[in-house]
Amino acid sequence: MPILCSQRINMRICYQSLFHFLFILMVDCTPPEDPIKCSSGTRNCIITNTYGMFPDRSICREANAAYPTSEDEIIQAVAFATKSRKKMKVTTRYSHSIPKLVCPDDEDGLIISTKYLNRTLRIDQSAMMMTMESGLTLRQLINEAAKAGLALPYAPYFWGMTLGGMLGTGAHGSSLWGKGSSIHDYVVGLRIVTPGGPEDGFAKVRVLDHGQADLEAAKVSLGVLGVISQVTLKLQPLFKRSITYLIRNDSDLADEAASYGNQHEFADITWYPSQRKAVYKKDDRVSTNISGNGVNDFTGFQSTLTIELAANRALEESQEATKNGDGKCSTSRLITSLLSATAYGLKNNGLAFIGYPVVGYQNRLQSSGSCLDSLEDELITACPWDPRVKGQFFHQTTLSIGLSNVKSFIQDVQKLVDLEPNSLCGVELYNGILMRYVKASSAYLGKQEDGIDFDITYYRSKDPMIPRLYEDILEEIEQIGVFKYGGLPHWGKNRNIAFDGVIRKYRNAEQFLKVKKVYDPDALFSSEWTDQILGLKDGLEIVKDGCALEGLCICSQDSHCAPSEGYFCRPGKVYQGARVCTRLNSK
Ligand SMILES: Cc1cc2nc3c(=O)[nH]c(=O)nc-3n(C[C@H](O)[C@H](O)[C@H](O)COP(=O)(O)OP(=O)(O)OC[C@H]3O[C@@H](n4cnc5c(N)ncnc54)[C@H](O)[C@@H]3O)c2cc1C
Ligand SMILES: *[C@@H]1O[C@H](CO)[C@@H](O)[C@H](O)[C@H]1NC(C)=O
Ligand SMILES: *[C@@H]1O[C@H](CO)[C@@H](O)[C@H](O)[C@H]1NC(C)=O
Ligand SMILES: *[C@@H]1O[C@H](CO)[C@@H](O)[C@H](O)[C@H]1NC(C)=O
Repeated sequence: MPILCSQRINMRICYQSLFHFLFILMVDCTPPEDPIKCSSGTRNCIITNTYGMFPDRSICREANAAYPTSEDEIIQAVAFATKSRKKMKVTTRYSHSIPKLVCPDDEDGLIISTKYLNRTLRIDQSAMMMTMESGLTLRQLINEAAKAGLALPYAPYFWGMTLGGMLGTGAHGSSLWGKGSSIHDYVVGLRIVTPGGPEDGFAKVRVLDHGQADLEAAKVSLGVLGVISQVTLKLQPLFKRSITYLIRNDSDLADEAASYGNQHEFADITWYPSQRKAVYKKDDRVSTNISGNGVNDFTGFQSTLTIELAANRALEESQEATKNGDGKCSTSRLITSLLSATAYGLKNNGLAFIGYPVVGYQNRLQSSGSCLDSLEDELITACPWDPRVKGQFFHQTTLSIGLSNVKSFIQDVQKLVDLEPNSLCGVELYNGILMRYVKASSAYLGKQEDGIDFDITYYRSKDPMIPRLYEDILEEIEQIGVFKYGGLPHWGKNRNIAFDGVIRKYRNAEQFLKVKKVYDPDALFSSEWTDQILGLKDGLEIVKDGCALEGLCICSQDSHCAPSEGYFCRPGKVYQGARVCTRLNSK
């Protein structure tokens, strides 16, 4: 019996860049597929992420999948695999991370899904604490907290991820206030099931409370310590917010960016570097007396007509194939002006956008993701990145730059845009560079200093050997962020090279590895990828023909680019230390 879409009759205005007109349709929507597919029951499985593709385009094959429904069943699964020395990995309902975190890379491994671990266990209203199972989605968390009059103050902008997954990768929203915008900084306790010896029955539940040093490891764990079964978060009384978007030119962005986060509690900035514009989100807590029942249904996370997705992708592919930078710029201007006219999906009263400010309760404004609704099979609409339909396919470079370096980083990007004015229109097609505030964390693998997280999304070809338009500029920005300014990659996004030497950027990496050694001495929850990012194994760079195009390597010779397409390995234009694939002839 299919669950109905919350808005089965989903009236929406589609911003259709190809046909340049507005239309209203009544449609059903389709939820994403399960990332685990097994050929016989829970055996012979393959596992992927929500995009259907890891950065290296490999496929993960596994022998078995387990779907525990309680902590006892997690213990059984971990004990079974520990006893038979099988590799394990925790996977989630949708698997929203880009890197290969979910592969046990042992074809005889066990994947333990948290899909059925989605209950709220306890709410202590007076202490404002809520205890949940780890597979609960952010959407459920927000809703159930609100029912008890509570709110998570800061959260990722998309509500499809699970509590365990958000902790796994250090997910965050945007704020420099309080403890900052990362979910893990609101954890006051958790329970984690780790391998054990024969004396423990091969599995052990570890209960970590506020103040215990091990909690600093488990709060951001990349899934390598064991299966988190339950998490307790410290929440706040439900409050209201008031949001206004202000568009300005980006002349003073480099000076303004670092301090803007101190002016507004939920500030962020969306930057369109080729348009030389920045959209400042003026977003503050207000008294519940102020009227308004606003809702956020961010346009980029709405269910989108698959014909619209296909048309947009076809246009993008043809602009890439014909190297039509001007075309990309006019499409990006159109898309971003339609987004701004529709307030990026904000609605004053749940139905329409009438004007700023949009005032409403935190639970209705903090995150969105209506494309996840419904269980219909026909693919009439989908999330824009759903791999079953022709739609978005992209790379994401997401780096946190310390506040003291933000100004120079922005100026470097602006210098590149001065040299190649059209170069970042392709990024603007994905609504530009999202800049969000993050705060230093006590978690061993959390942010090391206050900073801005730059989220840069750009075209990825279905063919790994085809370079993208302004390949060199995008690669140079990535290398400026990672190497010149020591940016920290989001653990759940990015291409391989963003993780080059990453563990050396964490002061407490040794402490993390010590806890890992104690919790999982045989490294059953580790994989080649997690060993590589934790600095325990080489091979993070995959050197082969065309490897720089996919961010698998930094080019050191022309064959790492696409010489037959006219792209050769050259130094950067602003950062001489960069090595990027540059188009030299007009082929
Ligand atoms: C559309 C979209 C929007 C996004 N927006 C944001 C955003 O605004 N801010 C942000 O920070 N990130 C954002 N992300 C990234 C996202 O937050 C992370 O990728 C997150 O880790 C995904 O959670 P998941 O539940 O899908 O976990 P997965 O990707 O399935 O897993 C992530 C890691 O956590 C581990 N793990 C999961 N559950 C457990 C558990 N119970 N015990 C132990 N380990 C576990 C997994 O093994 C894996 O290593 C976005 C991603 C998408 C697709
Ligand atoms: C919990 O997860 C199951 C399996 O995905 C789902 O059917 C159920 O609706 C979820 N519960 C809630 C409250 O969302
Ligand atoms: C940018 O806007 C400021 C006012 O906010 C103005 O003084 C300045 O001249 C503008 N710069 C450009 C290049 O338009
Ligand atoms: C909010 O309203 C209540 C009564 O309706 C009043 O007592 C209180 O002072 C108001 N608070 C603010 C900040 O206006």
